[in-house]
This record gives sequence, structure tokens and C-alpha cells, in this order.
Amino acid sequence: MDMTPEKLIELAKDAMTRSYSPYSGFQVGAALLCADGTVYQGCNIENAAFSPTNCAERTAIFKAVSEGRRNFSAIAICGGKGGVITDFCPPCGVCRQVMGEFCGPDFPVYLAGPNNTWQVKTLAELLPFSFSSENI
Ligand code: THU
Repeated sequence: MDMTPEKLIELAKDAMTRSYSPYSGFQVGAALLCADGTVYQGCNIENAAFSPTNCAERTAIFKAVSEGRRNFSAIAICGGKGGVITDFCPPCGVCRQVMGEFCGPDFPVYLAGPNNTWQVKTLAELLPFSFSSENI
């Protein structure tokens, strides 16, 4: 696999440019690397009624699952007001839970920061003591 964190982050930044966020002005992009090497990009898609808004991460994951992918290797996320990255953009709780449906505890979540910085967190770090199919 020739994908690197830096390349995946670039794809997240590219997806961020397609954010539909007229209400918050906060643009988010995600790039989801599948086990077979394909990448699904996602952006946040807001709505006038607010609650139908879909986060960038879930856009990418739902695109991938709807196209038959369920095995994921990593995700990169970036976000910022007006598309300017001034800080890391950690995934919301709902997106963490959706990642937990398909990804294991070691799943790496790459977070892009300002000035081409990035950090990585595992899903277990982001979503400890989580509810899963094993609880049902
Ligand atoms: N947002 C995401 O796309 N992903 C997250 O994990 C956090 C929040 C979006 C939703 C909304 O369009 C905007 O950021 C401000 O909350």
C-alpha cells in the first residue's frame, strides 16, 4: 500500500473544498482509506433544518459502505472556518460511533492541524467503553 498519512490528509483537504456549509461556515473534509486501497472522500453537508446535517466523516463512510466497502484502514479529517485550518478537527461523537460499527480499536484517525501538522489517534482513544454489537 503506497498511501501515506500525508497523502490521505491531502485528499481530506481536497474534500473540504466541496463542503456545503452555508449555516456554520465551518468546512470539514474526510478521506477514508479502504483495505483494498480505494479512498472515499466526504464533506459536511448542512441543511436549513440543521438536524439533517451530515458530517464529512459519515459522508465518506456511508459512500464507501453503499458501494460495498466495509473494511477500512484509516481516515483523515480536517476542518476550519471558511476552509482555513487553524486547529485539529476531532470527529463528533456520532461519527466516532459510526466508525465503531466498522472499525476496530486500532483504527487510525489522522487529524490535520495548521501548517501541515498532523496527529494520529486510535479509535479506542477516541471512543473508549463504547456500545457495540457485542452489547446486544
Ligand atoms: N462537522 C463535521 O463535518 N464533522 C465533525 O466531526 C464535526 C462537525 C460539521 C457539521 C457542521 O456542518 C459543522 O461541522 C459545524 O458543526
